[in-house]
Amino acid sequence: MKRIGMLTSGGDCQALNAAMRGVVKCLSNSDEQIEIYGFNNGYRGLIYGDFRMLTGQDFSGILTKGGTILGSSRTPFKLIREPDENGIDKVEAMKQNYYKLKLDCLVILGGNGTHKTANLLRTEGLNVITLPKTIDNDLWGTDMTFGFQSAVNIATDCIDCIHTTASSHGRIFIVEVMGHKAGWLTLNAGIAGGADIILIPEIPYDIDKIIEAIDARDKRGSKFTIMAVAEGAISKEDAKLSKKEYKEKLKNRQYPSVSYEVAAEIETKTGKEVRVTVPGHTQRGGSPCPYDRVFATRLGAEAGKLILSGEYGFMVGYKNREIVKVPLEDVAGKLKSVDPDATIVQEAKMIGISFGD
Ligand code: F6P
Repeated sequence: MKRIGMLTSGGDCQALNAAMRGVVKCLSNSDEQIEIYGFNNGYRGLIYGDFRMLTGQDFSGILTKGGTILGSSRTPFKLIREPDENGIDKVEAMKQNYYKLKLDCLVILGGNGTHKTANLLRTEGLNVITLPKTIDNDLWGTDMTFGFQSAVNIATDCIDCIHTTASSHGRIFIVEVMGHKAGWLTLNAGIAGGADIILIPEIPYDIDKIIEAIDARDKRGSKFTIMAVAEGAISKEDAKLSKKEYKEKLKNRQYPSVSYEVAAEIETKTGKEVRVTVPGHTQRGGSPCPYDRVFATRLGAEAGKLILSGEYGFMVGYKNREIVKVPLEDVAGKLKSVDPDATIVQEAKMIGISFGD
């Protein structure tokens, strides 16, 4: 008998359900008896003992369903050691619920913050296996996270739609892409959507270089310019500030996001019309793309295999086209960023895409 607790934490993404289904189908397909406890709304469910027992039936028909059948929430790691408003010690509460239910293991699906807490629970003696979810693709230890390819599709569709309207008007269009502090999503959607300028956090931009790129397009007779701008894009001057100074500056920023700031600067310096589109949370929504369905299913099945062999303390990841198990301590607290010298960046530059650097 294996008693499994499962939870999804942090911002949701496509294929969370597909991944959980993979785990449960793998376990159900073995000779082992299983009991599954689904914790509601991320770590909150584990802290406050908010769970429901699930059967294989609950995981049937969810391969293509976006969101998460368990619900999700953000439980910031930096506050995990602080008691809640009622004085409850969150880490102790999670351990107690784990032991009360006599769980053999927790399967935790999440991104960066989630992995820090998962690793903490491991160090506290709980058996944990994690699966890498996030549209940002910024998790250390895996070349790919599920949700990412689906989000690339949506952001690309958005740029594609902007392209047709941009070609009718001689304007500059900015599409602001999610990704938190990493540029994976913007880089990939930008290239896939044929953006002329791509701004990512890993390559701080110079507004004058952006304008040079726009002018060069004008001179070649291109009526419009499409920019894919990461929500975390940063100017060269701002990149010189300390973390604290930059945070302070952001608090006083008069624009809702970096894209609007860049748009205003371009308008002031060139007199050209700029339009900003923010697809926002649509990038995390809807049905997972086929790639993510396959990928998440594979990761889920491999997680099931680890549970059956009693191997805990790993994230199931993907490296060099192989599914691998990565020790949680190697994953937690590290960010996987775009290397500004990566070949994909070089190739984008070779075809004339400007990074504003
Ligand atoms: O981490 C996924 C993500 O969608 C980021 O790309 C984005 O910065 C953030 O979550 C948005 O968070 P929230 O849903 O809490 O607004």
